[in-house]
Formats: sequence, structure tokens, C-alpha cells
Amino acid sequence: MVLLRTKDELREWTTERTGRPRVLVPTMGALHAGHTSLMDLAIKRAGDGDVLATIFVNPTQFGPNEDFDAYPRQLQADLEKCRDHGVTSVFAPEADEMYFNDATISVHESRLSHRLCGASRPGHFDGVCTIVAKLFLLTQPTAAVFGEKDFQQLAVIRRMVRDLDFSVDVIGGPTVRESDGLAMSSRNAYLSDEQRAAAPIIQKTLREVAAGIASDRFSSPETARAALAEGIASEGLARIDYVDVVDASSLETLETFEGAIPRLVAAVFFGKTRLIDNVGLPE
Ligand code: PAF
Repeated sequence: MVLLRTKDELREWTTERTGRPRVLVPTMGALHAGHTSLMDLAIKRAGDGDVLATIFVNPTQFGPNEDFDAYPRQLQADLEKCRDHGVTSVFAPEADEMYFNDATISVHESRLSHRLCGASRPGHFDGVCTIVAKLFLLTQPTAAVFGEKDFQQLAVIRRMVRDLDFSVDVIGGPTVRESDGLAMSSRNAYLSDEQRAAAPIIQKTLREVAAGIASDRFSSPETARAALAEGIASEGLARIDYVDVVDASSLETLETFEGAIPRLVAAVFFGKTRLIDNVGLPE
């Protein structure tokens, strides 16, 4: 496995390997089984081509009061996981390698980004789009894998690929969960034991309400939303940022179930830690 630290090293590597399928797995490191499942998907997709993982805690997607400084950084452990999962090469630049101090151009998505996570994290999806666009341009992948846990991010990236004509096939990887249903996330490490024990309420409630929608127990998305809020709030340590039942591709709040593919989404604070999760309807 090759470790690339600069854009020049990356360009040289990609030039040498022109013409081979290349599947990109962008990450911010602190890798867990959720990330390695994306690498496994990428390996299958790449065939005899290359899997390139990126490890970069992207400053432009963190707000001023968010956890950029505290975000876990563990490059050596991450590199071992990449090696164990058959990644061909890892690009792990420093922030000043990726951004000019006086950069004035960024990528702005103006429809899907303003609500849900975007409402409490202004500018977050501009930061995500900008770094992902830069990584696409630098690495020239044939496909890229992103986790469905960040459902809004996946939708925004698909929209960027469509609207900016990137020739990249975007693949969504299913959410990987702990044995009690909590979605794996690097931020789970911030939870106290008490908060950790309480956090599975998110997935439990999302799943119950999704099953209720599938069996016509809710007359409207509005009543399903109320059930989501009530179920999650029944856990005293949970503070809801948002819950919603949205259209899976436009992310707009659903007014009716008629002809819709619903996605149930939630962001919930436990203390200062904000966790997100989402589910579709059971098959
Ligand atoms: O999902 C993440 O880890 C990040 O948002 C991404 C896509 C690597 C961009 O920094």
C-alpha cells in the first residue's frame, strides 16, 4: 500500500495508473467498521483496478463552534485498517496542502443543503462539496463510495455529480451498526457510558415508525413525524435537533405518502454530541 502526502505525489501516482478502474473512498479518518465496509464495497467494484482511500479532516466543513480540533486523528491505526482491507493507496494530506490561505472559490449547493443537517450546520455542505469536488478532480476516480448514514451528504454529492458533470459513479454503502443498533460513527467515542446506553433510542424509534408506515399505521407523514419525536424524546438524555419524514431523493418534507419513497431521518444531541441516523421502509 502506498501512502501519498502531497498533491504532486498523488498526481504522479494517478498518471502512472491511468486507464485502470479507480474507486475512491473519501474519509476523515478515525476509521471503524462503517468505513471498512465502504472499502470492501470499493474493492469489489474496482475488480483488478485500484482502491484509493483519502484521510483528511476537512476544516471547511466544520463550523466555528464544532469539533474540528477535537476530531479524533489516528493516522497509523487508520493506515493499518486500510492495508488490512486491501486498499491500494492512501492520500492523507495536511490542510495547507489542500487549501490556499486566500482561496476564494468554493462549491455551493442551494436546494438540498439548507435544511436538516444544513439548518444547524450552515456552510457544512459547501465544505463537503468543495473538498469532494477537489478530491474528484485530483484523483479522477471511476467510482466513489459514501456511507448512507450521512444520507443528506450522499444526496448532495449525487446532485453535485449530476449538475457539474463529474464522470464518477456514486455508490451508497449501507449503514453499519453496533449490536444494539446504534449507527457506527467516529463521534460515538465522545459519548459517556450513560449517553452511549441511551443512544440506540434513535435507531429503535426510526425502525418502529418505519415499520408503522409500511403497515399503514400512520394516516400521514405528519403523524409519523410526531411519533418519531415522541419516541426519541421518551429517552430523557436525548435532545432532538430534528426528526423528519422526507422524500428520499429531494429530501423535501413529505406531506403525503402517496407515490413517495419515504426516508426517516433524525439528528439528536446527547450532551454536546450530535448523532445522525436514517432508515428507509422495511422491504
Ligand atoms: O463523510 C465524511 O467523512 C466527509 O464528509 C467526507 C465525505 C470525507 C468529506 O470530507
